Amino acid sequence: MDILKLILSECKRGENPYIYGTKKIKILKKRILIIGASGQLGTDLTLQLRKKYGNHKVVATDIREDDGTLSKEGPFEVLDAMDYEAIEDVVIRYEITDVYLLAAMLSATAEKFPMRAWNLNMNSLFNVLNLAKDRKIKKVFWPSSIAVFGPTTPRQNTPQKTIMEPSTVYGISKQAGERWCEYYHNKYGVDVRSIRYPGLISYKATPGGGTTDYAVDIYHKAVKHSKYICFLDKQTTLPMMYIDDAIRATLTIMDAPKKAIKVRSSYNLSGLSFNPIDISESIKKQIPSFEISYEPDFRQKIADSWPQSIDDTDATKDWGWKNKTSLEEMTDIMLKNLSD
Ligand code: SER
Repeated sequence: MDILKLILSECKRGENPYIYGTKKIKILKKRILIIGASGQLGTDLTLQLRKKYGNHKVVATDIREDDGTLSKEGPFEVLDAMDYEAIEDVVIRYEITDVYLLAAMLSATAEKFPMRAWNLNMNSLFNVLNLAKDRKIKKVFWPSSIAVFGPTTPRQNTPQKTIMEPSTVYGISKQAGERWCEYYHNKYGVDVRSIRYPGLISYKATPGGGTTDYAVDIYHKAVKHSKYICFLDKQTTLPMMYIDDAIRATLTIMDAPKKAIKVRSSYNLSGLSFNPIDISESIKKQIPSFEISYEPDFRQKIADSWPQSIDDTDATKDWGWKNKTSLEEMTDIMLKNLSD
């Protein structure tokens, strides 16, 4: 009887009414809420999830009004990640099953507004974890970061489990968040999944307030002015990743069977490791006149406290993770798309 109702409701929405087995039923029932959808990760993730599940099944929300990018194809609402009742209201109205909580204040901005960053990064997480604890939603995705590591962490091939003494507000909030995710899983059975993202690089949306942002900005400036003044020193090697790989990792970990997810704090994830010289050399191959100069600022200290490369053996073993895009391929894609 339930299945019949489901089929009928999906028919009304104009969807394929043929259902085979429980996996298909789960997919049909899936309704996704993205909080912080207009940010760098949110923009690409919303578009990919809509491609996969259908536009109307993915509700994009952000504290800011949308410029048309996300509201054109599917539902969009203004939503404050700190407002529990408002989130609950959206969850009930759209019959949400899965929440991706992407709203956060990143490392560089958080150093300027420590208490605001702490309140936003922690309260938004508690809001979503508590919805899951009370069985109002089924699954949670919450991003962590390489910022959970600190100056005392081994910097090369940083292991999944190691010394973690983050020295930034952002890092402290992510590390605390990881502990809470694991706690909610162990104590209340909350199905929360998480990845420690490296610096993400994309052309669709710009990042805001991060230390790894130079690796996006450099492409914009290369295309526009053939010149870039870098706020990190030339030898500053950091873990990075092209956005398509990051999205693929996110979809893969969220699709993995529950029992495959052995780490309920957050998974190390490795993509690329490069410094400003490496990225500028790859740009020069395509824009020979490109010039880079260096004026390190307060973000240097943040970058110096983070790993240079990451060991992601657990992600590979547990849910089959493998990075694809190289630095050269990424440069190619970025320059092509930003020049159009
Ligand atoms: N990209 C983030 C930042 O620089 C790190 O997760 O703050």
